[in-house]
Parts: sequence; C-alpha cells; structure tokens
Amino acid sequence: MTAADLDAVVEIEQSIYPHPWTRSNFSDSLAAGYQCSIVECGGKIAGYSVVMIAPEEAHLLNLSIAPPWQRRGFGREVLDFVLRLARERGAHQVLLEVRPSNEVARALYAAAGFSEIARRRDYYPAGAGREDAVVLQLELR
Ligand SMILES: CC(C)(COP(=O)(O)OP(=O)(O)OC[C@H]1O[C@@H](n2cnc3c(N)ncnc32)[C@H](O)[C@@H]1OP(=O)(O)O)[C@@H](O)C(=O)NCCC(=O)NCCS
Repeated sequence: MTAADLDAVVEIEQSIYPHPWTRSNFSDSLAAGYQCSIVECGGKIAGYSVVMIAPEEAHLLNLSIAPPWQRRGFGREVLDFVLRLARERGAHQVLLEVRPSNEVARALYAAAGFSEIARRRDYYPAGAGREDAVVLQLELR
C-alpha cells in the first residue's frame, strides 16, 4: 500500500464498516512503517491489511476485503500472507482484536488456528454504545 492507494482503500473501508478507519489512520500506519499491503484483482484493489510487527509479536490491525470480492478466498489469502510475513520477521505470535458479533471474521481466524485469550471490555464503538473485543492469538512455530 502506498499513499496513492488511499482514496480506494478509504472508499472500501467506508463501504464495509459502520465505524471505519479514517484516512489518517492509514497514512499514520504508512508513516509509522507498519506493514500495509493491498491485494489487487484486475487492476483494482480487492482488499488490504495493516500489521504492526515488533520483534516478538505481530499485531494485525486491519484486514478487509471489498464486498464484491468477499467469499472468494481473498481473506484467507491475505491472512496467510500476513502470517508468512510475521514469521519471516521473527515474530513468535500474532495478536488481533475482533468484534464478538463478527462471525465471518471469527470463522476465518478460527480456521487459521487462532484462539481466544482475552476480552477487552467496551473496546469498539457500536451504535449508541460500545462492544467488547475478543483478543485472538496464534503462536507461530
Ligand atoms: C472477514 C473477511 C476478511 C473474510 O474475507 P473473505 O475473502 O470474504 O473470506 P474467504 O473467502 O477467504 O473465506 C475464508 C473463511 O472465512 C469464513 N467466511 C467467509 N465468508 C463467510 C460467510 N459469509 N459466512 C461464514 N463464514 C465465512 C469461512 O471460514 C471461510 O472459509 P471456508 O470458505 O473454508 O468456509 C471479509 O469478509 C471482510 O473484509 N469482512 C468485513 C471486514 C472485517 O470484518 N474484517 C475483519 C475485522 S477483524
């Protein structure tokens, strides 16, 4: 992902989430040196990921597939890419947060071997209130 991709990325982000990341969230991630990647199909951005990789652990901050491209294996492919990247950079584990209500994402992560290690209370905005986050972990070996 580069700055030139941000218009398309932000458009996808807004089409998916009721509480989307802002353009600044993405440009700050690029500036911070996080691993920000896109997957393209037919010259169009089909999805993207943002990962913060520290020496010991990687934190998956965003994994999104544009609605027209969902359910075609891109999510799994991008997740596999992230896990490879984290392993190559020497991370021993991958962590991420997901909404308890996000059954599709939870199924994807469970199939990849992630398991729940904690809950963060009132982590996400949700309508007028808040929703907890499930913290998932995968040990890399
Ligand atoms: C979650 C998301 C990344 C999955 O990407 P995808 O490309 O649609 O998923 P894939 O086609 O690679 O499917 C991978 C697995 O996800 C699960 N899955 C995907 N779509 C599903 C659906 N509609 N219902 C139930 N499970 C589903 C299944 O476990 C699937 O494996 P299977 O095909 O062997 O059953 C994508 O739907 C998305 O961007 N959703 C909105 C944003 C989001 O929730 N991101 C994650 C935030 S933590």
